[in-house]
Amino acid sequence: MAKCMARTQVGMTSVTRLCGTKSIATVNGQFPGPTLFAREGDHVEVNVVNNSPYNMSIHWHGVRQLLSGWYDGPSYVTQCPIQPGQSYVYRFQIVGQRGTLWWHAHISWLRATVHGPIVILPPAGVPYPFPAPEAEVPLMFGEWWRNDTEAVIAQALRTGGGPNVSDAYTMNGLPGPLYACSAKDTFRLKVKPGKTYMLRLINAALNDELFFAVANHTLTVVDVDALYVKPFAVETLIIAPGQTSNVLLTAKPAYPGARYYMLARPYTNTQGTFDNTTVAGILEYEHDDPATGKSLPIYRPTLPQINDTSAVSNYTAKLRSLASAAYPAAVPQAVDREFLFTVGLGTHPCAPGSPVNGSTCQGPNGTARFAASINNVSFVLPTTALLQSHYTGMSKGVYASDFPFAPPRPFNYTGTPPNNTNVMTGTKALVLPFGTAVELVMQDTSILGAESHPLHLHGFNFFVVGQGFGNYDPAKDPAKFNLVDPVERNTVGVPAGGWVAIRFRADNPGVWFMHCHLEVHMSWGLKMAWLVLDGNLPNQKLPPPPADLPKC
Ligand code: C2O
Repeated sequence: MAKCMARTQVGMTSVTRLCGTKSIATVNGQFPGPTLFAREGDHVEVNVVNNSPYNMSIHWHGVRQLLSGWYDGPSYVTQCPIQPGQSYVYRFQIVGQRGTLWWHAHISWLRATVHGPIVILPPAGVPYPFPAPEAEVPLMFGEWWRNDTEAVIAQALRTGGGPNVSDAYTMNGLPGPLYACSAKDTFRLKVKPGKTYMLRLINAALNDELFFAVANHTLTVVDVDALYVKPFAVETLIIAPGQTSNVLLTAKPAYPGARYYMLARPYTNTQGTFDNTTVAGILEYEHDDPATGKSLPIYRPTLPQINDTSAVSNYTAKLRSLASAAYPAAVPQAVDREFLFTVGLGTHPCAPGSPVNGSTCQGPNGTARFAASINNVSFVLPTTALLQSHYTGMSKGVYASDFPFAPPRPFNYTGTPPNNTNVMTGTKALVLPFGTAVELVMQDTSILGAESHPLHLHGFNFFVVGQGFGNYDPAKDPAKFNLVDPVERNTVGVPAGGWVAIRFRADNPGVWFMHCHLEVHMSWGLKMAWLVLDGNLPNQKLPPPPADLPKC
């Protein structure tokens, strides 16, 4: 097994996009940041040196971190942030995963610019379960703001309203030719006729789920969240913030005399509160004469309507684990614990003495402040790290272990539900004995508008055993669960006005964050923590913290 080591420096860099220049936090001066290459089984060591003015921590999104919870990265969950001038060495092994993941800052909104791909190749000598591609190309989607994103979220939290939306989407950091001033900032994919290419897609946007299509070319999905799936071909795919996917694109057999847009723009049905612009990259065939190549016609793909929820559910219904002899799907067939979580938006009580900053109707136009919650609890990060408090037995005053197992009130979201104006705040964990087989149903409450919530679980992959629209029915729906080849992943969209059921085995001791990967919802509290206890065997215990673990 190889060891791959990297030294990375977080610092400030001036970057120009959309005809404006601003100073952003970057890694090694690059935006997006450098790609981390590893093979399945590798031990990875990354020394993160923080030369930025911000408190910082890096999360290795999707890396299971088996017995290495101290290196997972979310600030105030598994570690205190790395303060300016300090450093921390992340050490972990990549076990049972191959495909594409990504790394990003995990504090405030700094992941807007501090992010990059993780490419995980199969072990040396182990082929892909599909023909090897001619080339592999990371394609990372992002969002660009003209303003400083730390100022954008600070203002939203101060006023209790929604944050300003972004000014552009990007592919590998480039907005592309459909934005003013951006034709030169266009991602170009050059292909040879007849060859197959693997695109390693990553949605690093802060707040938007995206449709993606390439004109006149189908995409074959072979992997999501670093796990193989049964291959299927699509014209358009959907990818939520936090999700990754490897897709194959086969170039036309002969030189076609045309160029093709690759487009991405959001899926949402929350009208009016999002950036509905379109990022374009260009697929072009390698041509002997570059001058002729430039004047070729360019074709555009048709993307689904912006609020096309059925395009989303049709796509997600196609996802199945490969579930082959070499890559079996270890779906828990029976469960020890069942939980039901309502997830959604609401507001804090609009009254004197309300729990958030003692606010009295500090929201938009004198209304209550926006909030987001799970089972009505809007999570508040502590000022020290949860994992340290747990490990040292000093949890008193830091967190409570009484996260609710079920919603506080019966719910009915098929009609027009009342606004939830009574969101509670708290720092609560849900404790699981080692090895618990968990079934979790997440029900979207669609209270202030409808959009899917990409829920991301740290420390585990889970199987998506069922999903549907309307209210989850515990009497009828479980009979329809797929326990044979459900897709396995780390981030799943809780459908707009619907529910999703997942199963996982709590075989990784530590404190594991679970949250909506829409950054604004995370800021409003749509997050919680699972606390998985040590098991009895020596290889079921979280090792002690490293000496250089940052202090708060
Ligand atoms: Cu990619 Cu907790 O996040």
